[in-house]
Amino acid sequence: MRILSAVLLTLVLFFSADLSSGQEPAGDFIKLPSPEVKGSVSVEEAIDKRISIRDFSGEGLSLEQVSQLLWAAGGATSDGITGATRAYPSAGGLYPLEIYLVAGNVQGLESGLYRYEWRKHALIPLEKGDLREKLARAALSQRMVREAPAVIVVAAKLEYTVRRYGQRGAERYVSMDAGHLGENVHLQAHSLGLGAVMVGAFSDKEVKGIIGRKDEMPLYMIPVGKPALRGKQ
Ligand SMILES: Cc1cc2nc3c(=O)[nH]c(=O)nc-3n(C[C@H](O)[C@H](O)[C@H](O)COP(=O)(O)O)c2cc1C
Repeated sequence: MRILSAVLLTLVLFFSADLSSGQEPAGDFIKLPSPEVKGSVSVEEAIDKRISIRDFSGEGLSLEQVSQLLWAAGGATSDGITGATRAYPSAGGLYPLEIYLVAGNVQGLESGLYRYEWRKHALIPLEKGDLREKLARAALSQRMVREAPAVIVVAAKLEYTVRRYGQRGAERYVSMDAGHLGENVHLQAHSLGLGAVMVGAFSDKEVKGIIGRKDEMPLYMIPVGKPALRGKQ
């Protein structure tokens, strides 16, 4: 019975831990500093103090901060059972979300659009130039998108989840995945002394144009940076 259970568990893990999402990078990539897995702010404290931050100080982000935020968004982690998973849970281990970075004021990183390659913990440069103004216009001119030093954009390859789960996957699971990812970024931002806000109000068509992917459904923009004022103390 025990052997049968072990075999079944192995099969379940094998078929569920796809961890997919994302083509392998074709060209150059920028390796990010290794993420920290220990911090000085407890999970409880981060949950208690987290609030949406819409006013940023004007300071830039360091590459270490960007690295940490992207890792928390969807980087590789180790769960001790399968050996490797990712920072948030995903229905069926299918991981349909792509993570982009629109960098405007990040030390050591040219302004531009990048895709986060979680397997390598690296950035794939996609386009040069400061795209924050364009992104803000796509988000009904919400000024924090323009003013944050960087914006994380999350988009879904819906077919990854729909292929297995049909309508239920499209209507529920993909958005649930994005919610988990978003809260990770929120909590990580707080623990770094940064702030973030989830932005869901934008033109899908315009954001698809900015990330250059008509086949992906944008779900979130997450402007992140040093808060102008501290939140709840
Ligand atoms: C799916 C989603 C979409 C959101 N879209 C926006 C948005 O477009 N603009 C904005 O300013 N805040 C947006 N928010 C942030 C909420 O307004 C905010 O989380 C809520 O008011 C609670 O405040 P708190 O985060 O400070 O606790 C969004 C939040 C979620 C979860």
